[in-house]
Amino acid sequence: MSSGLELRAVSRSFGSTGVLHDVSLTVPPSRCVALLGASGSGKSSLLRIIAGLDTPSGGEVLADGADLAAVPVEERGMALVFQKALLFPHLNVVDNVAFAARMAGRRRSVARQQAMEFLDLVQLADYARRPVGTLSGGQEQRVALARALARQPRILLLDEPFASLDVQLRQDMYALIDHIRAQLAPTVVVVTHDRQEASILADSIAVLDEGRILQHGTVHQIHYEPATQQVNNLLGGLNAIPGVVRDGRHHSALGVLAVQEDAVDGPAVLTVRQEALRLVPSGETGGPTIKGSVAGLTSLGARTLVRILVGADDPAGSTGSATLAVDVPGRPQLLPGQVVEVGLHEHRAWAVPQR
Ligand SMILES: Nc1ncnc2c1ncn2[C@@H]1O[C@H](COP(=O)(O)OP(=O)(O)OP(=O)(O)O)[C@@H](O)[C@H]1O
Ligand SMILES: [Mg+2]
Repeated sequence: MSSGLELRAVSRSFGSTGVLHDVSLTVPPSRCVALLGASGSGKSSLLRIIAGLDTPSGGEVLADGADLAAVPVEERGMALVFQKALLFPHLNVVDNVAFAARMAGRRRSVARQQAMEFLDLVQLADYARRPVGTLSGGQEQRVALARALARQPRILLLDEPFASLDVQLRQDMYALIDHIRAQLAPTVVVVTHDRQEASILADSIAVLDEGRILQHGTVHQIHYEPATQQVNNLLGGLNAIPGVVRDGRHHSALGVLAVQEDAVDGPAVLTVRQEALRLVPSGETGGPTIKGSVAGLTSLGARTLVRILVGADDPAGSTGSATLAVDVPGRPQLLPGQVVEVGLHEHRAWAVPQR
């Protein structure tokens, strides 16, 4: 069972400092939204308000259309998992998971039996009798998830639950969340400052900055169709070329490129993801290319980021120069200053109004 969640113009101030401003967000039942933002952007504050642990200064939180203002924490049908597991140290694994059912008055044997089902779901059934003090960080987090799920929440709230885990464990936890979504289908709100984590886990991403949602969209939209230059920055987009839009075309040091049809005429920054560009081997025909010279290479491990200076030798000199970042596989054999051509999937070029 899951609930739709809606935030309507939620704001929160501490004294004269506003930390959330008019946050509106809709999450349909069983969908997963990621709240993505830098440290201090208001992610945990928002999650606490959704859970009922804090009261908004203005606005409303609704589940399935019903205002939750008067509904206490334990009756909201939600469960919250924090970055630190916060398990009860005096209880073993299974009794941690059985805790809510015991509080609700179930018999110990019944509560434990139900807890075992959730331990099975997080693949920790063999650890049921272990004291929690003997668990690894990843195991603790899985117990915390099982304990949250044992409350059978209609909305599962996750506040950076995997931030302290290593890369491999985090991948395992992502698979586990997928499994939980397939089995139980709760509505999920996951808070993270990691854009890759947000993209892997969520159906949609809400980008939060200084207490405001800058954009809420699909993973694709957020990356390839950013609402503002700031969203492009926060999502790791490296290319932001100043210029001007006229009739659906962007004019800049890169030349004239088609952008989205409804781009507004006027000063605009062209964004194009470094992953949406490629180096075109010399002699290859077809498709427009942009000529430039290699300004630098940065190894990304299995891939390389190539920086290319464009427009520096423009004889007219009217549009200036720009540097393009291109993310390519492997380690290309390129020398600084070498002339190369960049291919661009034109539908990936996107203009945002200049601030
Ligand atoms: N009880 C409080 N009193 C005063 N200010 C607060 C309180 N709680 C949060 N804040 C402020 O609100 C802002 C947002 O904090 P919040 O914890 O929501 O950020 P966050 O996005 O979760 O950051 P992080 O990624 O570091 O966890 C911060 O500037 C914080 O100092
Ligand atoms: Mg936080």
